[in-house]
Amino acid sequence: MNILSLYCFLFFLFTRGHLLQVNGETKDFYIVFLSDQLANKESKARTHIDILSELKGSELEAVESHVYSYTKSFNAFAAKLSSSEAKELSGMEGVQSVIVNQYRKLHTTRSWDFLGFPQTARRKKTESNIIVGVMDTGITPQSDSFNDEGFGPPPAKWKGSCHHFANFSGCNKKLIGAKYFKLDGNPDPNDILSPVDTDGHGTHTSSTAAGGMVQDAELFGLAKGTARGAVPSARVAMYKVCWASSGCSDMDLLAGFDAAIHDGVDIISISIGGLTGAYTNDTISVASFHAMNHGILTIASAGNDGPSLGSVANHAPWLLTVAASGIDRRFQSKVVLGNGKTLTGIGINGFEPKQQFYPITSGNDVAIDIESKESAGYCIEDTLDASKVKGKLVQCKLGTWGSDSVIKGLGGIGAIIESEVFLDTAQIFMAPATMVNSMVGENIRNYIHSTRSPSAVIHKSEEVNISAPFIATFSSRGPNPGTKHILKPDIAAPGVDILASYTPLQTLTGLKGDTQFSKFTIMSGTSMACPHVSGTAAYVKSFHPNWSPAAIKSAIMTSARPMSSKINQEAEFAYGVGQLNPRRAINPGLIYDMDNMSYVQFLCHEGYDGSSIASLINSESKISCASLIPPLISEDAINYPSMQLTLKSKKGVTIGVFRRIVTNVGHAMSIYNATIRVPKGVNITVEPMTLFFSHILQRRSFKVTVEAYPNAKKLLVSGSLIWRSCCHVVRSPIVVYDPQD
Ligand SMILES: *[C@@H]1O[C@H](CO)[C@@H](O)[C@H](O)[C@H]1NC(C)=O
Ligand SMILES: *[C@@H]1O[C@H](CO)[C@@H](O)[C@H](O)[C@H]1NC(C)=O
Ligand SMILES: *[C@@H]1O[C@H](CO)[C@@H](O)[C@H](O)[C@H]1NC(C)=O
Ligand SMILES: *[C@@H]1O[C@H](CO)[C@@H](O)[C@H](O)[C@H]1NC(C)=O
Ligand SMILES: *[C@@H]1O[C@H](CO)[C@@H](O)[C@H](O)[C@H]1NC(C)=O
Ligand SMILES: *[C@@H]1O[C@H](CO)[C@@H](O)[C@H](O)[C@H]1NC(C)=O
Repeated sequence: MNILSLYCFLFFLFTRGHLLQVNGETKDFYIVFLSDQLANKESKARTHIDILSELKGSELEAVESHVYSYTKSFNAFAAKLSSSEAKELSGMEGVQSVIVNQYRKLHTTRSWDFLGFPQTARRKKTESNIIVGVMDTGITPQSDSFNDEGFGPPPAKWKGSCHHFANFSGCNKKLIGAKYFKLDGNPDPNDILSPVDTDGHGTHTSSTAAGGMVQDAELFGLAKGTARGAVPSARVAMYKVCWASSGCSDMDLLAGFDAAIHDGVDIISISIGGLTGAYTNDTISVASFHAMNHGILTIASAGNDGPSLGSVANHAPWLLTVAASGIDRRFQSKVVLGNGKTLTGIGINGFEPKQQFYPITSGNDVAIDIESKESAGYCIEDTLDASKVKGKLVQCKLGTWGSDSVIKGLGGIGAIIESEVFLDTAQIFMAPATMVNSMVGENIRNYIHSTRSPSAVIHKSEEVNISAPFIATFSSRGPNPGTKHILKPDIAAPGVDILASYTPLQTLTGLKGDTQFSKFTIMSGTSMACPHVSGTAAYVKSFHPNWSPAAIKSAIMTSARPMSSKINQEAEFAYGVGQLNPRRAINPGLIYDMDNMSYVQFLCHEGYDGSSIASLINSESKISCASLIPPLISEDAINYPSMQLTLKSKKGVTIGVFRRIVTNVGHAMSIYNATIRVPKGVNITVEPMTLFFSHILQRRSFKVTVEAYPNAKKLLVSGSLIWRSCCHVVRSPIVVYDPQD
């Protein structure tokens, strides 16, 4: 996380759509989806101009308004339009939907994303947006993680490309593709028009998913070990769709998907989110549906808006949605006070103290004047008296980003930052600093005021073991805001204090005055969790090249390690099926498979009408929901690897019947018995209780009936169904959700 991305987060909050003034009329960028009757690229692009000409009355104006044609995997175009023009267009023949271009954010965070800065803070900057994965901020081609030593030429199916660009030396046999998309045409003063990564997020996520082995990776001696992706031998293709100042726009995202699908990627990793609209007009949802039609599974981050309930993003059923869990280590620093007392703070501080002690003061006590006293407590620049800060450590309340930078800039030594909110991720500091909770903060303040010449020292950070896994506070939670029938997030993977490759074009903190650079850095966020699952999906695909996206997803979900609701009370709404378990994912025994029509059926069941679904699948043929409704009643009308029953009655019983079909991908002759874990107050039955298989790819159906009364105290209760054979355990959580309103 750096100051740039913080800045741009605010920036795109306030400038949604990047309004343009043309002839006094406000214009916005729009994406226009068309029915897919035209096969070739030239005729698609021609039609786009024709449609715009019809709208505008002249070809010249059409060309002026036209921004981009998506012709490979989509039939769509982007154009600058007024809202009335957009409306008119949506009624024209062959136009399936018209959506306004919006700007999204990256799903990387330091603890800032979940801290919820105090309202008192003057310059509240709440979220960082660092970038991960394949749809991301670009990449660092010279990074050791993308060294191509020992690699052969790219696979024959690869149709992508890579060129030399500004500050980008080109690709190699490991990093086989790199493109950038910046369709709004506005130059970005803080970025480089090139696939190069000026932020670090894209380098970090790509290397987590598929980076090669790099020995002795570390940051300040911390997290030392061999850095590697899940699939060190896999290739990487970067689609830069996020920019330092403007964030990630829908237009650019769609262009990234269009290219990636055409180029022949196997898996798409996207650690971006924010706005999630209807499944038929949210860009990530629509684009990933197309990817699925081409056999590509898209893995997406759940978002960093936790622990609020219902905050999960990227929740379409064809996406694999990833929550962030913590691993068994933490980075902390010892703070020793002049009175000999030792306290502990969180964070990554790479500085060895040069003196035994430094004078320490509190921000409030060194305000530039009386009026500034309160702001000075938060160590806001311009509110502190430099002469009183010089040579000292300063205690600051957490209220603005980069107190360490402010103190250092004023000639101080460093900062002890006090946070009122629980801390589970480590910040990197550019000066000696650490983050303490309010209790420790109070102790320090009392000490400062108890003596004439208070002193303290902050030691270099060290690594300690903690118990894990747990879901990070910042990780977005269910219930799914898009449908009450699908449990989201799907799964959890490590996303707290993750070490991976970084860019040489950015300092470790991005803060003013920072001079620290490193090949590796530590970041936190669901952005970091997502590529763990993307890499695992690539790993599964390497064993089973013909499996459908749903099959790969099912294998990853049913093999996950259960997590404990004692640690995370939101249970499945925090961790989905539990913690990712890559080794077992390649051999799941049974899979819950689906094709694209299964999802269409689901959407019909959800009440989407045929014409809006047609826009999603971009097909000329009309979808008739009436003809698709399955003859057998099923609660969720989908063959999902987890089950969620949302109570319908405040008093009476709710009965849900879930019909499922499993496909045998284990041993030809196998017998699976059902084990049901039934939570209190709920009845669950499974019919039949035993499934017999005699050959591979044989399918067997079964029915799960769940009966539950409202539970006054709990938002959700958790059960599970496990199909067990001699050699496999296939687990699906069963969640009963009580909306309680
Ligand atoms: C998406 O669809 C929903 C429901 O039909 C609608 O309310 C929303 O305005 C649409 N969003 C966009 C960006 O078109
Ligand atoms: C990018 O390349 C140009 C030309 O080689 C160079 O002047 C500039 O410093 C580079 N920018 C960065 C951020 O490295
Ligand atoms: C499903 O995917 C196939 C290609 O795998 C495609 O031909 C078909 O149009 C898709 N159907 C829908 C409803 O999207
Ligand atoms: C921390 O955990 C690691 C890995 O489990 C172990 O090797 C190490 O000994 C532990 N260290 C401490 C101080 O408990
Ligand atoms: C569960 O089954 C028992 C026995 O049939 C019945 O008495 C009870 O009411 C059922 N509970 C629910 C929640 O349906
Ligand atoms: C499954 O159940 C059957 C009959 O109840 C039993 O004979 C068999 O041993 C069980 N198999 C396993 C793997 O538990």
